[in-house]
Amino acid sequence: MDQLTDALAASLDLVAGRCGDPTALVYDRLFARQPGMRDLFVNDPAGAAQGHMLQMVLETLTNMADGAAWPANMIRAERINHDQIGVPFDVFATFFDVVHETFRDAGGEAWTAEMETAWTTVLARAAEA
Ligand code: HEM
Repeated sequence: MDQLTDALAASLDLVAGRCGDPTALVYDRLFARQPGMRDLFVNDPAGAAQGHMLQMVLETLTNMADGAAWPANMIRAERINHDQIGVPFDVFATFFDVVHETFRDAGGEAWTAEMETAWTTVLARAAEA
């Protein structure tokens, strides 16, 4: 584990400790920014798909911090899958920023410069994918 991985993991722990499950916070912010996306989740009233998607995104970013190669492929594949279910490419990319901002706000004053650097570094890698 290097510093990037540690800082990202610490940020996830921080948010979990402060808010428990952050799923609702993330999707509230997403739907405020991309109101059209709410309708795509009509078949997910309990939020199971939302929770699973967020979990997958966090796992992908964590593995990206580790330098694994598969996350970039996974993002490329999901971009195409999501385009087919009605999530345009540019909207797809906004999810990463929404998660970052939600976590940073939830972390509050305990959010460190190392955590911020870890997120911006990993999101830059995701954007390259
Ligand atoms: C604004 C951006 C996004 C929207 C609106 C969105 C929307 C959705 C929707 C509606 C589903 C449920 C599909 C279904 O089962 O009917 C889903 C599933 C999923 N999404 Fe996204 N997505 C976004 C971004 C992303 C990103 C950036 C990733 C990761 C790279 C991702 C990964 C996944 C995965 C792995 C699933 C399957 C989860 C499951 O159903 O168990 N999504 N997404």
